[in-house]
Amino acid sequence: MILLRKVRVFSLFILSHYAVKFCIGGDIITASEYIQDPGSIISSGGLYKLGFFSPNGTTNRYVGIWHNKIPALNVFWVANREKPVLDSSGVMTISNDGNLVILNGKKEVLWSSNVSTSGANAKAHLLDTGNLILQKQSSNMSTNDTTAWESFQTMCDTFIAKMKLSTNLRTNEKKVLTSWKSPSDPSIGSFSISLEPLNIPEVFLWNGTTLYWRSGPWNGKVFIGIPEMESVYLDGFTLVDDKEGYVYLTYNFAEVSYFSYFFVRSNGELLQPFWDEKYKKWRIDWSTQASDCDVYGKCGPFGYCDAKKSPICSCLRGYEPKKVEEWSRGNWSSGCIQKSLLQCARLKNGSTKAGKIDGFVKLENVKVPNYAIWSSPLEDKCQEQCLSNCSCAAYAYDAGVGCMYWSGDLIDVRKFSYAGTTLYVRVAHTELEGKRDLRAIIATAAVVATVIFSIGTFFAWQKSKKRGGKDGEQFSKASSENMLRGSLSKVNLQELVLYKLEELAAATSNFSDANKLGEGGFGAVYRGRLLNGKEIAVKRLSGASGQGLREFINEMEVISKVQHRNLVRLLGCCAEQDEKLLIYEFMPNKGLDAFLFDPLKREQLDWRRRFNIIDGICRGLLYLHRDSRLRIIHRDLKTSNILLDEELNPRISDFGTARIFGGKEDQADTLRVMGTYGYMAPEYAMEGRFSEKSDVFSFGVVLLEIVSGRQNNSFNEEDQSLSLLGLAWKYWEEDNVLALVDPKISVGCSEIEIIRCINVGLLCTQELATDRPTISTVISMISNEIVGLPRPNKPAFTERQTTTDTGSSRQSQKKYSANNVTITALEGR
Ligand SMILES: *[C@@H]1O[C@H](CO)[C@@H](O)[C@H](O)[C@H]1NC(C)=O
Ligand SMILES: *[C@@H]1O[C@H](CO)[C@@H](O)[C@H](O)[C@H]1NC(C)=O
Ligand SMILES: *[C@@H]1O[C@H](CO)[C@@H](O)[C@H](O)[C@H]1NC(C)=O
Ligand SMILES: *[C@@H]1O[C@H](CO)[C@@H](O)[C@H](O)[C@H]1NC(C)=O
Ligand SMILES: *[C@@H]1O[C@H](CO)[C@@H](O)[C@H](O)[C@H]1NC(C)=O
Ligand SMILES: *[C@@H]1O[C@H](CO)[C@@H](O)[C@H](O)[C@H]1NC(C)=O
Ligand SMILES: *[C@@H]1O[C@H](CO)[C@@H](O)[C@H](O)[C@H]1NC(C)=O
Ligand SMILES: *[C@@H]1O[C@H](CO)[C@@H](O)[C@H](O)[C@H]1NC(C)=O
Repeated sequence: MILLRKVRVFSLFILSHYAVKFCIGGDIITASEYIQDPGSIISSGGLYKLGFFSPNGTTNRYVGIWHNKIPALNVFWVANREKPVLDSSGVMTISNDGNLVILNGKKEVLWSSNVSTSGANAKAHLLDTGNLILQKQSSNMSTNDTTAWESFQTMCDTFIAKMKLSTNLRTNEKKVLTSWKSPSDPSIGSFSISLEPLNIPEVFLWNGTTLYWRSGPWNGKVFIGIPEMESVYLDGFTLVDDKEGYVYLTYNFAEVSYFSYFFVRSNGELLQPFWDEKYKKWRIDWSTQASDCDVYGKCGPFGYCDAKKSPICSCLRGYEPKKVEEWSRGNWSSGCIQKSLLQCARLKNGSTKAGKIDGFVKLENVKVPNYAIWSSPLEDKCQEQCLSNCSCAAYAYDAGVGCMYWSGDLIDVRKFSYAGTTLYVRVAHTELEGKRDLRAIIATAAVVATVIFSIGTFFAWQKSKKRGGKDGEQFSKASSENMLRGSLSKVNLQELVLYKLEELAAATSNFSDANKLGEGGFGAVYRGRLLNGKEIAVKRLSGASGQGLREFINEMEVISKVQHRNLVRLLGCCAEQDEKLLIYEFMPNKGLDAFLFDPLKREQLDWRRRFNIIDGICRGLLYLHRDSRLRIIHRDLKTSNILLDEELNPRISDFGTARIFGGKEDQADTLRVMGTYGYMAPEYAMEGRFSEKSDVFSFGVVLLEIVSGRQNNSFNEEDQSLSLLGLAWKYWEEDNVLALVDPKISVGCSEIEIIRCINVGLLCTQELATDRPTISTVISMISNEIVGLPRPNKPAFTERQTTTDTGSSRQSQKKYSANNVTITALEGR
């Protein structure tokens, strides 16, 4: 090490004498290895590039950092934003005092890192995170270089992974993002973004000194005012109190290949582009200018904004427009005023009998007003505390925050159709009477009507299909083709092949039994070989199955949108003459169940392979839940739906029951419970509520099956009344989890890893969905990033259940079949 450094110092000495104009392509800038316009350096992994550029519409030269591998949408960082080089004579180098500087042709310093460093041996290093750091070389060879300055600490308009948006609580000094003045002028514009840690931390976007947009309070996981965060960013963002006076917000994505960031445009729009690798283009994932409701205080005090309504502004219940004329003209800035005096005000106004106490009206899924005051961590205290303080106008409770209440104006309330939190607005008792229940009834009726409508249309289609005869056939064919075409136009046409029925019949020897690979919930799967020799798997949806077309199209839509090495690939489809077929790549090793529960094949699965399978399933699920830009809940994860490729890598298959969430809802209720007994989470099996956490439950079961080599719902010899989950729990409590491990696995030095996996399996199968980790946390857990794992609570379904005893249990309307076939139960809720 010491030797190496000496050699380098020596060679630099030579270079500085002979290389007058020396431009290099490394990742380092020193006094001799400087960059001169139009030179550049590239980070060691090739991700980022630092060099001279001119913004659109000007010939001024700036030094900036941008993405090197994909066409940059914007320049992330600009050094000399206030002072451009006016010609092409610019140089970025290390000055005599050890600072990183930009000089023009006359050797004038246009920009400097402006820190006190020691001597000219300093060097600047462009890292693969996009950070440019200035390192002071230690005069003491046995100590490391220290970072004297970094570009991440002087942010421009872009917030990329691992940057820190910070505020010093003591000095109130802030590291903020600042917009460019215009698209052709990187100098500091009027918009800035800061982290405001007062009361409850929140991100503010300012126009000069005027608040322009706010994120809503941070609840430990997401910002309450950004519903999209519920899905996409969960676990990606963290707010850190470094205990040295700084609070900062930072983020990172679990999947390295996923490239996305935030930046504030010169017009004040904060947006999140992400790189769509499949289509090779940038997409805007999220923006603060998606709706007029994004503007701070759009509807004035005591008004609220709902982008789905027309007009978008309304008064909170119990309030009416302050200036009716202006309000009706769409000038909402004056806001609303109370209709009836609250009890405190009545008392104050000399009324001796103040009458009944105030009540609260609920507004669900909202971004709560600005200036929240925190009062208590306990939910049942919120209302009481608000009532007891005359200046309290509203309260809200969020599990991650506790009680928030507001005095004075309620400003910048926004209603969403999902996420957000519930706001309780204080009103006089006279405002409460009679109205409350009617709303609830109307809302329920609307939901029921929608469901009945969609089920109704579906059955109408089925009926007309069954009616037979020319008309019926025509109708059904036309409609199935239309549906197919309609959904194909939504999916990616280039990559999905429409196969001909005769082609597929030939490939599978007319769907012969000899070619049958298995029977799924909605039909049989056949092995086939196309004329060109390519092997395929053909799923033929059974005509008799009531699920038919709907699941068919669903599966096609879902799977054509996702691509991941741990998900099975759909090649094409076919819908002809009442036949509906899906064509997949062929997986020679079939399902995981065929290995795991086969006494001979099981031996091939040593612990390394099993761990690789567990890890692969996690990554496939993470992709579905988080990284594919659409949130997909699989709903029927089980060992037979995990296919193995030649190298025994897992691929999740069977998306017939998956639900796309479009990154919006977080959980849903369904009338059609579809899944497989033994793998279904309790809240889903019992109440039809499914979410990412119900997939996590199924994953937990699969994990325990992989470790133990036993099926959850099969008979077990030790204790016939216990399910696999029950058995795992029993051993866990006895502190003897290794007893659960498949005897075919040689535990050896993998003991800790195996115990870890069982611990994770138990965490995933806990009774309460909220106790279960998200799949990204699971990945961190099994890859040992999280060191101390929590102790699990008792899992759900520890007792072994049979068809009869489930039938007679709590859910008497439901019928489950205990075999391995996907079941469906229709239930009115
Ligand atoms: C540059 O400006 C032109 C014309 O205004 C526009 O078409 C082009 O998209 C701009 N390029 C970038 C990178 O913004
Ligand atoms: C450099 O920093 C000093 C103090 O840290 C400050 O007074 C000075 O204005 C800075 N110079 C520039 C060019 O930013
Ligand atoms: C150099 O580093 C060593 C080990 O860290 C330390 O003991 C020594 O005091 C240092 N010398 C100087 C001059 O800083
Ligand atoms: C020096 O750097 C190495 C590698 O980055 C690190 O392992 C070591 O702990 C550092 N030493 C000091 C004294 O910071
Ligand atoms: C930002 O503030 C300036 C000056 O107050 C104003 O002219 C401009 O319209 C504002 N921009 C937006 C987008 O509101
Ligand atoms: C809206 O109303 C406010 C006062 O309530 C007034 O000052 C403002 O000029 C009005 N704006 C428009 C566009 O009419
Ligand atoms: C207070 O009470 C008087 C009469 O009792 C009424 O006229 C007045 O409007 C009340 N004040 C307010 C602010 O409502
Ligand atoms: C009521 O709320 C106000 C405003 O936040 C606060 O200043 C006051 O201390 C509260 N009073 C009580 C009794 O909690």
